[in-house]
Amino acid sequence: MDNKPSVVMIGLGYIGLPTAALIADHKVHVHGVDINPKVVDIINAGKIHIVEPELDEAVANAVKEGYLKASITPVEADAYLIVVPTPFKGKNEPDISFVESATRGIIPLLKEDDLYIIESTSPIGTTEKMMHLIYTERPELEGKLNIAYCPERVLPGNVMYELVHNDRVIGGIDEKSTNKALDFYKKYIKGDLHKTNARTAEMCKLVENSSRDVQIAFANELSLICDKADINVWELINLANKHPRVNILQPGCGVGGHCIAVDPYFIVADYPMESQIIGKAREINNYKSFWCAEKVKNAKLEFELKHGRKPSIALMGLAFKPNIDDLRESPAKYIAQKVLQNANNEEYYIVEPNIETHTVFKLTDYKDAAEKGDIIVFLVAHKEFKKLEISEDKVVLDFCGITNR
Ligand SMILES: NC(=O)c1ccc[n+]([C@@H]2O[C@H](COP(=O)([O-])OP(=O)(O)OC[C@H]3O[C@@H](n4cnc5c(N)ncnc54)[C@H](O)[C@@H]3O)[C@@H](O)[C@H]2O)c1
Repeated sequence: MDNKPSVVMIGLGYIGLPTAALIADHKVHVHGVDINPKVVDIINAGKIHIVEPELDEAVANAVKEGYLKASITPVEADAYLIVVPTPFKGKNEPDISFVESATRGIIPLLKEDDLYIIESTSPIGTTEKMMHLIYTERPELEGKLNIAYCPERVLPGNVMYELVHNDRVIGGIDEKSTNKALDFYKKYIKGDLHKTNARTAEMCKLVENSSRDVQIAFANELSLICDKADINVWELINLANKHPRVNILQPGCGVGGHCIAVDPYFIVADYPMESQIIGKAREINNYKSFWCAEKVKNAKLEFELKHGRKPSIALMGLAFKPNIDDLRESPAKYIAQKVLQNANNEEYYIVEPNIETHTVFKLTDYKDAAEKGDIIVFLVAHKEFKKLEISEDKVVLDFCGITNR
């Protein structure tokens, strides 16, 4: 059996590792690369370093059968996939230095007809930039490689299913590259594969998340207007959505997570004048979190004036969306921090039923918090909270529709 890897997967995180396991499951040799030696050791032991249903079994099998191996350095292969982080630097500027460094690492290994694919969420033009980098270093290969961009759109928690069944958008820097990338993905993916160019594929990923952000911003803007106009926003949206062609999303305490709250900035940073709505949506969704923290502050003062004592406050939820344990870019966490910064000898009960402990917040059981708090602030619509019976004497600030939906 020829054990030479056919695929090198660079970046073995939430996306790279499941993708590596999927490819290895097709009896294709995958050489996974990660700069974190701990990640490499864990994977080579047939274990996983992230939480994702069914991934543990897939990685254990792939490693046991010899189709997946991890290392801190790349080796020669036929296809190279770049699945490294693309965070921010400075003031909401995308940082593609991880993509660049991963690319530099494989440039000496490239040979004619190889396939190079970026899957990392990337600003428009990144694939072309990497192509120029590669051909500057290896001019003899100019036009002889296949270079493409193919974004990932899986939902954490359902990655192993969605990796296979979601449609994919594949954009090469030329038609030959697009076709070669499509031939690669069709071995593993059952969803439809849609051909385009690299720039459109890059933009497509950014637009998918910006579209969600803009639609949520509309709902959040309505919630601000309704608060001033003394209208129940949940009832309003429910009624407006009875129109056959209207579908307004639900407001919340902001927008979080590592995609929707981040990717729109990749457009705004490069096209600030043209991306007015996209930029404004980011501002509105961020402002909504600030507004929620201010509302808690005012409720505290009103309580003190009315009752002549300080209230106790239950902050219900820290995750960035309902029923998950992920706190990345979480508006609820931001609000909790802001509220605690303004603390003035009140008692606080911080609740997050999906995590056991937190390094900063002392967590309280959600039922205890709802019983003990004078002011109950619903930040995240976790399923546990919907079952709570809140007594009449409590002040309830419901930013996520727990009591109204
Ligand atoms: N997680 C998601 O749900 C999701 C969904 C769609 C798109 N994406 C995009 O996919 C990309 C990867 O995201 P992720 O969630 O898998 O990130 P992650 O942080 O979970 O994993 C990235 C891995 O890459 C490694 N790494 C960093 N630089 C490296 C280098 N030069 N060489 C080798 N390894 C390196 C890190 O150590 C880490 O283990 C990002 O661009 C992200 O925006 C993520």
